[in-house]
Amino acid sequence: MTFTVTEEKIASVQADCEIVIVVDGNLDHKWVADKTDLETLDFKGKLDSVAFLPHQHRVYTGVDSLDRDEVRLAVANALKAIQRAKYTSVKIGAYVKECPVTNTKAIVEGALLGTYRYDRYKSEKEPFTIDEMLLSLEEYADKRLETEPAKKAAAEAEIIAEVTNHAKEIVNTPPEDMTPVLLGEYAFEMAKELENVTCFIGDENFLEEQKMGAFLAVSRASAHPPRFIHLVYKPENAEKRFVFVGKGLTYDSGGLSLKPSEHMVSMKADKSGAASAISILEGAARMKLPFEVHAIVGACENMIGGNAYKPDDVLTARNGKTIEVRNTDAEGRLVLADCLCYATDQKPDYLVDMATLTGACVVAVGEYTTGVMGHSDPLKEEIMTAAAKSGELTGELPFNRYLRQLLKSNIADLSNISSSRYGGAITAALFLDNFVADDYKEKWIHLDIAGPAYVEKDWGYNQTGASGAGVRMCLYWMKEHTYGDDHHKKEQ
Ligand code: BES
Ligand code: ZN
Ligand code: ZN
Repeated sequence: MTFTVTEEKIASVQADCEIVIVVDGNLDHKWVADKTDLETLDFKGKLDSVAFLPHQHRVYTGVDSLDRDEVRLAVANALKAIQRAKYTSVKIGAYVKECPVTNTKAIVEGALLGTYRYDRYKSEKEPFTIDEMLLSLEEYADKRLETEPAKKAAAEAEIIAEVTNHAKEIVNTPPEDMTPVLLGEYAFEMAKELENVTCFIGDENFLEEQKMGAFLAVSRASAHPPRFIHLVYKPENAEKRFVFVGKGLTYDSGGLSLKPSEHMVSMKADKSGAASAISILEGAARMKLPFEVHAIVGACENMIGGNAYKPDDVLTARNGKTIEVRNTDAEGRLVLADCLCYATDQKPDYLVDMATLTGACVVAVGEYTTGVMGHSDPLKEEIMTAAAKSGELTGELPFNRYLRQLLKSNIADLSNISSSRYGGAITAALFLDNFVADDYKEKWIHLDIAGPAYVEKDWGYNQTGASGAGVRMCLYWMKEHTYGDDHHKKEQ
């Protein structure tokens, strides 16, 4: 879908159909041309209500307020209601709230995120004919506001939503069609298309050289070799260095600590952290953000076989720490351990890892919310504020020293699982903490996206399957990043 932002009045814009956002039941707004019909239909003009009037070629979609996420949802709902009507273009008027660009941004994001479909393997694809959205900035003219920022914001929103959809596409792809090698090729091809982006792909030999003993052990039983993916976006005069690390398990069978069948289904989504890191880098490069951005991905499969790593094995990670394996299904933290060591060597100003790390996180905060962990309160707050604006849900999970003690091992430096069944999302993060060098602890954030990365039902403007969790929040965060903030407050 392409977006054309225009100063023209909505009434004179030419399109097959008009979307009208109705705010809190206000049917007296000048854009509401069908008040009587809407009253007959008992359209309340509240969130999640839609009325399509095919003869008038208008679709009304309600919000309780002009909150950005309500607007995203309203636009997605409207497009869903008219998707079978075979229109090719739609028009919509943008409202001006306190900030004159948020509404425009939300409309574009709602349209692109809401119309994503994963139909690669469907013989009969549901047709979707709308390929143009015309956005009228009539209210801007009325209020004598500049329209240039809104146009820029629309272009930015388009990038953010498109790369979120790219992350969804990677995650939704079945494991045989998105093996570690294929994920590496995807990243490599993507880099070729982007300015100032380079891509390094490492194989098993590289992992050996790097002494990534934990990552190698997890990968060993798979017929598909592992890949270490390192993408760098480096514009001239970059102001800060952001490093994103993604868990890229293209399949997680659990390994010898095999998952029961019902828990194995959907484990193609265990590459979601990787998909998000790669797509964030794509977004940063396309938005031409003034930062150096890295995406570091550990891609492999956790499988069974004669050469599989075993419970009782002791592994040595890149920083020399030894790990007693007590459960091969806690594999993500092993791959991330080595990737985080490598990531801290890049001397990041900010280090964010993203992973579908624990079922415990889903139990703790529910399936729609990302668990946010780390040592720096201001940094956590900054990311969570950006997430809220982006439409992603987050919840903070606090560290404490008692939970840290649960990772002790009798024979190695630490165990890969906690000795308690409680607090599993936090103990997993505290495991990772062992691989973040001291100087970088305050710069590090761990995002457990096990819930929202992949939900097998529609929710809001997200479709069943992958949602691209982490992408929007991190792009909003970098975009709105305020320089000079002091994130170096010490932990408790
Ligand atoms: N990939 C899973 C976590 C997961 C579970 C993601 C459900 C999405 C939905 C991870 O590798 C795993 O298996 N974790 C174990 C850890 C346990 C063995 C300590 C878990 O959560 O059960
Ligand atoms: Zn696992
Ligand atoms: Zn996993």
